[in-house]
Formats: sequence, C-alpha cells, structure tokens
Amino acid sequence: MSTIAEGLVKSLHHITLVTTSEPVNRRFYTEVLGLRRVKLSVNQDDFFHRHLFYGDENGSSGSVITFFEWPHLVSGHVGLGAPHHIAYSVKDIEALQKWAAWLRGNGIQVSGPHIMGDRVSIYFRDPDGSLLELASKLDERIDIAALREMFAEEVEAGKITQNMRLSLMDHASPLATDAAKLERFLSKTLGLRRIARRENPHDRQAVILGFGDEDHDFLRYILKPSIRIGFVGIGSIHHIAVKVESDEDQKKIMQTLDSIGIRHSGIIDRFWFKSLYFRDPFGNLLEVATAGPGYAVDEAPESLGSRLVLPPWLESERRRIEEALRLLDEQYPTRWPPIYRPAPEKPEQVE
Ligand SMILES: [Fe+2]
Ligand SMILES: [Fe+2]
Repeated sequence: MSTIAEGLVKSLHHITLVTTSEPVNRRFYTEVLGLRRVKLSVNQDDFFHRHLFYGDENGSSGSVITFFEWPHLVSGHVGLGAPHHIAYSVKDIEALQKWAAWLRGNGIQVSGPHIMGDRVSIYFRDPDGSLLELASKLDERIDIAALREMFAEEVEAGKITQNMRLSLMDHASPLATDAAKLERFLSKTLGLRRIARRENPHDRQAVILGFGDEDHDFLRYILKPSIRIGFVGIGSIHHIAVKVESDEDQKKIMQTLDSIGIRHSGIIDRFWFKSLYFRDPFGNLLEVATAGPGYAVDEAPESLGSRLVLPPWLESERRRIEEALRLLDEQYPTRWPPIYRPAPEKPEQVE
C-alpha cells in the first residue's frame, strides 16, 4: 500500500521518558552510560519542570534520550499507551560483553545475554526503573550456549572504552493488541511498512512486529491481544519521536493525518526542532520531529548542555523558572548511588 508519507520516516529522532531526579538521572546517563548531556532545559508545556537531553557527542538525532523531571508523579505501569522499553545499538558482541561487566561493576543487575530475533541483547533498569536494552547485531555463527559461556568470562571493564560508546538507538518497543489495525495505521500515517514479524522468545503469546525503513525496523511493537491499558508515570516512556528531514515532509504527514481524521497537536516549534504529536490506535504518543536545526542552534557545540537554556519565548520567565526549580530540588532530595531494580529474567515478556 503506497501512501503520501512513504519514505519520509527513516529513523528515530529521540525518545522521552519520565524521571524523578535531575542529578541521579544525569549521573546515570553520563557516568554510567557514557552519553553527553546535550541540552538542559524545561518542559515547554510545563515550564516549571526540567527537560533533560542526552545523546552522542554531537547530539545527533537518533542518539538522543530525553527526560521530563516530574518527581511528584507515582510510578508508571507498562501497558497500552505506556511503551515497554527502548534499545541502544552496540557495535558488536565483544562490546556488549564489556557493557555487561561494566554495568555489573556499577551495581546494576543485568539480564542476558538474550537472543531476540536478529539481535543479541542485555537488559537492565535505570534508577527510575525504566527498562533499557543494549543490542548488537547477531553473528550467525554464535548460539546461545556459546554466548553464555562468553559472557560468563571475566572481562576488564574499568571504563567505557571507545568501542563501547553508545550512539544510535536501535529500537523502541511500544505495545499493541491488533496487528491489522497497527499495520494500517502506521502505513497510512507515517508510511512505515512492517518489515519483520518475529517470535518473542520471552512470551509465547506475543509476537514482535518490526516497522521501519529497508533493513532497520526501529519500531518493534510487542503485539499481544491481552495487553491492558498502561499508565505514564515515573520510569515510563512518555513518547517516541521519529525523524523527518524537512518541514515540508512534516507538513505532508500533518496533511495526511487531517485527511484521515486523526487528531494531532499541529506543528509546534520546539526551537531545536519542530514537533507534531498524535496517538496510535493503542494510545501510544508518537511525535514526528524535524532533523534540524539541532541542539547547537543556541549553544556552541563544545558547551552543549552546560547551562539552563530556555527557548527565546521563555527567557522573560527565567527568574521565576529558576526559583521554581530550586524549590523542587529542595522538596525532593535524592541519593546516589540509587538502588536499582533488577531487569526481569525474560525481559520482553508482557504481563
Ligand atoms: Fe527490544
Ligand atoms: Fe519529544
């Protein structure tokens, strides 16, 4: 089925989650996962709360994970509307093995290695309980017994080495209950085709439907008819943004949504990119974000993320915002190192 949007979306742009604490979140994503903070700002729709951005050195789109700091919320539940997990790509299995050792050395319980379709993965939770996956392409010659043996070996993991560096995200996994509805919707709205249907070795009642461009299915929905409604709170994935190259491409998607009667936010200028939001049929919040202008539009590339940056229309509120953030920090003291919840033994199983 060809649609107006076909070929416009080729990758993820960023993924946004919910955290309780800026300092704990920053230490985890920069010191433990080795990402760079590429922007420190506020939630533009709720500007007395922070919005934190981490990514690779340049803040490349597809590398960026962001957080709304909402310490007053309760914990979320994974379910429809509250996606299951996200995965970063790791260069190869050796690097993945080092990651497992490094994370364990930081007091984090790691589940894996697991073979998930065409990937070898490990799973763990961040300080807020969000499930994270690191995934490397599967080398055909390796079976699970050999992998387990390899991961049982002691490896040197005193720091994050160059070949371990995280850059692009591999996939995001929201949940769905109806394959036909999902495929029709993603095809019509985002022009995304289903390019894979895989068994879920962790859950025999579920399958994994991969949507994307050519050989990279960056949206890997977990499909299971019995999944219930979720709740977005602390530790949840709030929304998943895919990338379009230009404002024109974004407009085409908005026009498509209008033409088929899907409610959306309209195009919102976020200053570092433009955003368009809507929900899939299962309540998952999706965003279409433009590639540019990027995080270096208001900070020099070498000092990205080093101070609180506000979009120009919020500068007049700076004093009130800084005071509100100070009060928030006072009200919700935090601790480092955090107590990490373990990742499940079968991480892609869905309740
Ligand atoms: Fe996954
Ligand atoms: Fe976003």
